[in-house]
Amino acid sequence: MMDRPITILGFAGSLRKGSYNKALLRAAQELLPDGALLEIFDLDGIPPFNQDLEGQTPAIVGKFKARIRTADAILIATPEYNYSIPGVLKNAIDWASRPYGDNSFEGKPVALMSASTGMVGGARAQYHLRQVFIFINMWPINKPEVIVTFAAEKIKDGQLVDENSRKLIRQLLENLLAWTHKLKD
Ligand SMILES: Cc1cc2nc3c(=O)[nH]c(=O)nc-3n(C[C@H](O)[C@H](O)[C@H](O)COP(=O)(O)O)c2cc1C
Repeated sequence: MMDRPITILGFAGSLRKGSYNKALLRAAQELLPDGALLEIFDLDGIPPFNQDLEGQTPAIVGKFKARIRTADAILIATPEYNYSIPGVLKNAIDWASRPYGDNSFEGKPVALMSASTGMVGGARAQYHLRQVFIFINMWPINKPEVIVTFAAEKIKDGQLVDENSRKLIRQLLENLLAWTHKLKD
């Protein structure tokens, strides 16, 4: 068992200022169990991946990779774009997984949340991300599934006000902590 706090790095698959998914990350900060810290990284400014640049990693990518490496666990909140992972999120994951042999996500536990304005709540992006986790060798939490449907009704003025979603996020974080401890034992 570790006695220092578990550090979690969170990032959102949306760059939008008023993003519902960024609101989920802020809610997670409020709902964090004892023994955990959550830092949020903004993906804004990460350039499009170009394999020609792998040898000269952009500074922001270097910073992102360093934060991932020092974190014990990862928390992703993302919308679904056209039934799948938003480009900005996939692009950031691609950068942080490269160059070959220097995948900063290697072996990390990860938890997922999604919010969308529609009735499926970003679930399809979550399932596509789970496929990506196989190749980058991450260890996702399976339950609970935090899928915030009709986000405009549940997130008001940037604040998640839906009690059931808040309960699920709290449970997700507790499970992430327990899972992270288990993987480190
Ligand atoms: C390019 C694009 C594609 C979208 N595709 C979907 C979709 O497939 N399913 C869905 O539920 N919502 C879709 N939406 C609506 C998003 O759920 C909505 O814009 C949401 O607010 C985005 O998350 P954010 O608030 O974190 O930025 C799409 C939005 C955009 C901009």
